[in-house]
Amino acid sequence: MAEIRRIGVLTGGGDSSGLNAAIRGVVMRAADYGYEVLGIQEGWKGLVQGIARPLSVEEVREIITVGGTMLGSSRTNPFKKEGDVDKCKANVEALGLDAIVAIGGDDTLGVASKLSELGVPCVGVPKTMDNDVNLTDYCIGFDTSVTVAVDAVERLRDTARSHRRVMVLEVMGRYAGWVALVTAMAGGADWVLIPEVEPDLDAMCNHLVKLRESGRPYGVVVVSEGIEVPGMGDDAEEEVDAFGHVRLGLRGVGHVIGKEIEKRTGIPTRVATIGHIQRGGSPTVHDRYHATRLGMAAVDLINKGEFGKMPTFLGGEIKVVELTEVTSKIKTVPQSLYEEAMTLFK
Ligand code: F6P
Repeated sequence: MAEIRRIGVLTGGGDSSGLNAAIRGVVMRAADYGYEVLGIQEGWKGLVQGIARPLSVEEVREIITVGGTMLGSSRTNPFKKEGDVDKCKANVEALGLDAIVAIGGDDTLGVASKLSELGVPCVGVPKTMDNDVNLTDYCIGFDTSVTVAVDAVERLRDTARSHRRVMVLEVMGRYAGWVALVTAMAGGADWVLIPEVEPDLDAMCNHLVKLRESGRPYGVVVVSEGIEVPGMGDDAEEEVDAFGHVRLGLRGVGHVIGKEIEKRTGIPTRVATIGHIQRGGSPTVHDRYHATRLGMAAVDLINKGEFGKMPTFLGGEIKVVELTEVTSKIKTVPQSLYEEAMTLFK
């Protein structure tokens, strides 16, 4: 194995709280091995353009409390534009990088996996508030996001109670319903709609009416931005990013559901979409602790020469998985967990 002297670290995709904790873990562990660390700016864009700067222990010492990412992020996909992969390879040489830690979700990790196969030594770290990275129980940012969303449920329930209304809360989560499901269960919401399960609007509305008739004239419904409602947005022009993802927030699915509830039940209904509020703010203890450990574990992999891999939390322990397997599919909510949640809607 070639001697490691300098490593790069980057954060790609949508930001989430806990990224700085992971960067700090990387820099601290790298110091143990005597590696220099370069912070590659704005995800893969920084590698395509060769923009990176040294990161010192002093600089990262206190960033654990800060939301966002000190490196910046982007949704740049070097495999999308001809010549960009060659630019990445050339910049790895020019910057003198012996390995790269790529912190990101499915898309960022997919690039890391492919670059590894092309001879650029990469390791991954799982990050996404969506919590949908395969082969890990934990993704950086999820805990902070659901903490924010649960707080929103509680605030919405207060105003719903005052006005005897239904409040619909639309949360992020793209193709996986983890954020919505955990928010609904932990926030004590009255219904949840997730992309993995076809929405049963009749069942939801009957439940809300039953609640009202039983003397509880208000409720909170949590809706994941990625649900499909028949007939919705068929003629809408959908904007996609470099990885082909539609901007789901623009579809306004929460409002579609809110209108349906009002139309079908006659219960006054209002809608709140918290969007990117879920992605910012100081990370929770859970995110700080786990992100730190994953950042350190990623550097341990580099030290062992285990490229094309990712440290992961499985069953409470740090394990190592192959990036090709990680990126072969996303982790969605199992039907059994959805059924557990349904038990709570009484
Ligand atoms: O993948 C993370 C995520 O926050 C999704 O939940 C959401 O659909 C998307 O990013 C929003 O992306 P952007 O920051 O580009 O609006």
